[in-house]
Amino acid sequence: MTWLSSSSIGRKVVMSVTGTALVLFLLFHATMNIFSITDAMFGVEYYNAICKFLGANWYALIATVGLAFLVVVHIVYAFILEVQNYRARGRERYAIEGKQKDVEWASKNMLVLGVIIVLGIGLHLCNFWAKMQLVELQHMLGVDVCHNALENATNGVLIIKNTFASPIYVVLYLVWLAALWFHLTHGVWSALHTMGWNNNTWMPRVKCISNIVATLVVLMFAAVVVFYFAANLCCPAECCTEHAHTCVEAVAPVVADTVQAVIDTVAVVVE
Ligand code: HEM
Repeated sequence: MTWLSSSSIGRKVVMSVTGTALVLFLLFHATMNIFSITDAMFGVEYYNAICKFLGANWYALIATVGLAFLVVVHIVYAFILEVQNYRARGRERYAIEGKQKDVEWASKNMLVLGVIIVLGIGLHLCNFWAKMQLVELQHMLGVDVCHNALENATNGVLIIKNTFASPIYVVLYLVWLAALWFHLTHGVWSALHTMGWNNNTWMPRVKCISNIVATLVVLMFAAVVVFYFAANLCCPAECCTEHAHTCVEAVAPVVADTVQAVIDTVAVVVE
């Protein structure tokens, strides 16, 4: 098993396996977040029920620890590979020559994108995890937590709505999501290329599938940011989750226009 850490191909296998698991987490997380929109639109409480289910219980905690482990391994191996590639080839990092123009920017900036994503995750955990699972955990362990904080710890819709009332968070999240999109679309390409896998039939197919998955995941996250920003513009600041659905008529066209603009931009970038 030492080949997983000592050989270059072993490290790439670890990157691919942890990367795939993280993409699956993102797909689940983004799909789950869409329920926060449908809840607000239809006045139901599925999202908060899921948040409650994923609260401070042993299976959710094991999943969180497992996820943190995957993230740490993925980041540590990314740094090791980056240093190893740089030492071996300087700026020329791929086994196969002939890089396409459209992947050059992302390929040169994988580390920068990775750093933006890690900083974003830190901010995100402070915004959500620290106000939800951590609060429940502290309460479970007998730490004194404020009554309001405990009451809101499973109210994901309210915390999302309050977070995206701030245009600063909206911009920061959209930048973070853009970095995530570049990272996800380029990650698969980069891993396959570094291993010298340059099959003319399957390479474009894999690239196309990774583009579709990355775009879907990022659009689902972005839809939540834009929806709640628009909902905050249409509703008073003190508006709580029960009233959110009354704003939907006003919000829907704004969201539709914005999503269309994002899709158009992504389509131009993908071409
Ligand atoms: C609009 C975008 C997003 C929203 C509204 C959102 C919402 C949330 C919420 C409500 C939680 C707390 C769940 C709980 O503790 O019960 C959470 C946790 C988390 N989110 Fe996000 N999220 C978004 C995007 C992302 C992205 C892009 C990533 C990764 C790149 C991410 C990674 C995480 C992680 C690692 C956790 C902690 C996992 C856990 O609690 O087990 N999130 N998010």
